[in-house]
Amino acid sequence: MSEPPTSPRGQADAPAEPGAAASEGLAELARREAQAERGGGEDAIAAQHAKGKLTARERLDLLLDEGSFVELDKLATHRSTGFGLEDQRIPGDGVVTGHGTVAGRRVCVFSHDFTVMGGSLGEVFAEKIGKVMDLALRMGVPIIGLNDSGGARIQEGVASLGGYGDIFRRNVLASGVIPQISLILGPCAGGAVYSPALTDFVLMAQGAARMFVTGPHVVRSVTGEDVSAEELGGADSHATRSGVAHVTAPDEPTCLAHARELLGFLPDNNLEEPPAGPPEEDPDREDPALDAFLPDRPDQAYDARDLVERVVDPGGLYEIHEAWGENLVCGLARLDGQPVGVVANDPRHLAGVLDARASEKGARFVRTCDAFNLPLLTFVDVPGFLPGTEQEWGGIIRHGAKLLYAYCEATVPKLTVIVRKAYGGAYDVMGSKHCGADLNLAWPSAEVAVMGPEGAISVLYRRELEQADDPQARRAELVEHYHRELANPWRAAERGYVDAVIAPRATRSQLIHGLRFASSKREVPPARKHGNLPL
Ligand code: HXC
Repeated sequence: MSEPPTSPRGQADAPAEPGAAASEGLAELARREAQAERGGGEDAIAAQHAKGKLTARERLDLLLDEGSFVELDKLATHRSTGFGLEDQRIPGDGVVTGHGTVAGRRVCVFSHDFTVMGGSLGEVFAEKIGKVMDLALRMGVPIIGLNDSGGARIQEGVASLGGYGDIFRRNVLASGVIPQISLILGPCAGGAVYSPALTDFVLMAQGAARMFVTGPHVVRSVTGEDVSAEELGGADSHATRSGVAHVTAPDEPTCLAHARELLGFLPDNNLEEPPAGPPEEDPDREDPALDAFLPDRPDQAYDARDLVERVVDPGGLYEIHEAWGENLVCGLARLDGQPVGVVANDPRHLAGVLDARASEKGARFVRTCDAFNLPLLTFVDVPGFLPGTEQEWGGIIRHGAKLLYAYCEATVPKLTVIVRKAYGGAYDVMGSKHCGADLNLAWPSAEVAVMGPEGAISVLYRRELEQADDPQARRAELVEHYHRELANPWRAAERGYVDAVIAPRATRSQLIHGLRFASSKREVPPARKHGNLPL
């Protein structure tokens, strides 16, 4: 038996020539990797670019920190035969999966490669996504999906449908555990829409992104409606009509940049805190301009964003559902460096009332914040719930109950400022003390009562007003009396329903102190399988 060769010290680093077998292996590896990176080939890539779309790998380059991507299953291919599939065995199988970092923080990713069979999902494609989702869940890091797919791979039949089902189940298991973010950058049709719909955030790029359960052709044949793909399922429709899209962007690079920004507000998982920035150096700093922020008349509108942005840290609001349910502004921001979820009635739209859509929007947002340890900051200026048959028959009771449920259920720190109106049931819903808020503040301008003065006076004094010599003067007198006696912050303060009435200028500092104090909050809900959110 010969002795194993020994190398004298200093010769270990000398480049060694690989043997013939090793050379062959390396060449084969390079060939397969290059094939995977080419995807569907030069023509398909050119066609992708011609549609204004980036390739799967170009998107990952923009999403992830440079050089951070670690690819998995690059050489996986489908095992199917028939329908010409045996000639389309492309390493990677039409989806690029792996992990990398965003601003130094780990994320798992998958990116559909439309150049390979239209990014259609077959058995192995689905296994690759399932594997990287499992990895994300095991490591406790966010999963980001870049969607651009023709849907279930027709040639693989039920295996494709099963693959979707396996992904849906993983979406649900991961829900509330790790952040799940979906970017829609191309077609996303049929049942395929339901994986993004199960995730926490759907970001859509204007242009090529489409989401629909059934496309325009089927719509035309079934309902007779003539609608373009863009109108049916483009980014604008989902941002303004359906509420499926939480965020939209004018193009893909901006959409990817939005995803990076969004991640900056979210923790890696439900057991971690969101990433905090530098705290406020002078937490007692006041903003005198806020004392004059409100318009002179209570029926005059202002932009709720202006109020929010005066209070939160520079950097502003990352708005969710900006163009849907506009009477309620929801977004992520930082206060004292700490990421928070902001909810604010916007008097510019429907006077800031709660309607079915805004209630649903708010409920979803509050639950997302609660799942990911984002304290809730609520600015209240709400005249009530919107009356009318459209609302009642549209389920305002069910949708309003969702928002109520979400606020009551949330165990994150809840801080609320009543700036002006807080009337009726909407007072209770919007982060009231009764729903378990930790700090409730009111400006002296707050109007907290069962209903607004006009309505209340009509109910209580209708007969007297009918008989009055000067009904207008008498009404004005009664309204003034109502404000003095009921529609103000003092009754609530007397009962401790608000912890303090504050000068508007002190809002930011009071909230910073409140947030710091609430940082140790631990609230354990009673044991149960799960609550029964009124869906
Ligand atoms: C297999 C597909 C495919 C699919 C597209 N391709 N969709 N291959 N299965 N589902 C292939 C095309 O044959 C073509 O191959 C290549 O991808 C590019 O497609 P094009 O049609 O040339 O591209 P484009 O004009 O941009 O149109 C894209 C498209 C269209 C709108 C997505 O391809 C389309 O309508 N596809 C079918 C969409 C669909 O109905 N999917 C099933 C949804 S139901 P070649 O070789 O010519 O380049 C579903 C059920 C999920 O997904 C259920 C989960 C429970």
